[in-house]
Amino acid sequence: MIFGDKMSVISVASAKGGVGKSTFCSCVGKMLALHDKSVLLVDMDIGVRSLDILLGVSEKTVYNWGDVIKNNVDYRKAVIQVSRNLFLLPAPIDFSEDYTTEKFSECIDKYKKDFDFIFLDAPAGLESGFTLSSKACDSAIIISTPDNISIRAASYACENIRKAGVGDVRLVVNKFNKRLHKKINVDEIIDVVGARLLGIIPDSQEIYAGVNGEKIPYDCKGNSAFLRISKRLCGENIPFRAKNM
Ligand SMILES: Nc1ncnc2c1ncn2[C@@H]1O[C@H](COP(=O)(O)OP(=O)(O)O)[C@@H](O)[C@H]1O
Ligand SMILES: [Mg+2]
Repeated sequence: MIFGDKMSVISVASAKGGVGKSTFCSCVGKMLALHDKSVLLVDMDIGVRSLDILLGVSEKTVYNWGDVIKNNVDYRKAVIQVSRNLFLLPAPIDFSEDYTTEKFSECIDKYKKDFDFIFLDAPAGLESGFTLSSKACDSAIIISTPDNISIRAASYACENIRKAGVGDVRLVVNKFNKRLHKKINVDEIIDVVGARLLGIIPDSQEIYAGVNGEKIPYDCKGNSAFLRISKRLCGENIPFRAKNM
């Protein structure tokens, strides 16, 4: 069993921007929610938040987790309902000394009883948002695209998350293009990053268009990869497809 059926707080990280962390959170969150799991997505990108746009709820954004830490609002009122089972907790716009690892972890603890999965969408870099999420999570998913810069960043992220005490770290290879990445050996990415594989997501026009608000077809190739990953997250034994590797 991977993450199993107990509630999981999962940090989604990479140390590099543009590899698909926010896209992963949004797509896997929607997929789990469609399959009756209650999901909270937490934007950790202080100042540059993006999940509210990806999820189409930016005009509903009033509070953020900074307000919960500062007791400006009840924690239940700070979340935005995206769909029946999917909720968003936005990031603050500014940094504050109040955002310590202890206070942030306490904030996330408040939501644990209400959700099956909480995903912490970490920013690029290994600074504040990354550190807060590494300390508050109980498992992590490292996202890498199949190129050496991203693989190196993913291996830094993996090392740092392990140093923060997280034992269960998995790898997702995103934007895999069979034609462009013919010579890429996924086993080598796994070795360099140092984490077991959770899934491979194809470079997909539908996923890309989804970022700009288009509906992603449920059974397109990209979304099928998210479906398989979401099943693995629920503890199902879904085999990897050898033709992708
Ligand atoms: N599997 C994919 N196929 C095609 N485009 C993707 C895929 N995953 C992410 N993208 C695109 O890559 C860009 C960066 O994604 P994003 O999720 O914002 O990255 P990050 O959160 O790591 O900075 C976006 O334009 C997004 O649409
Ligand atoms: Mg992002």
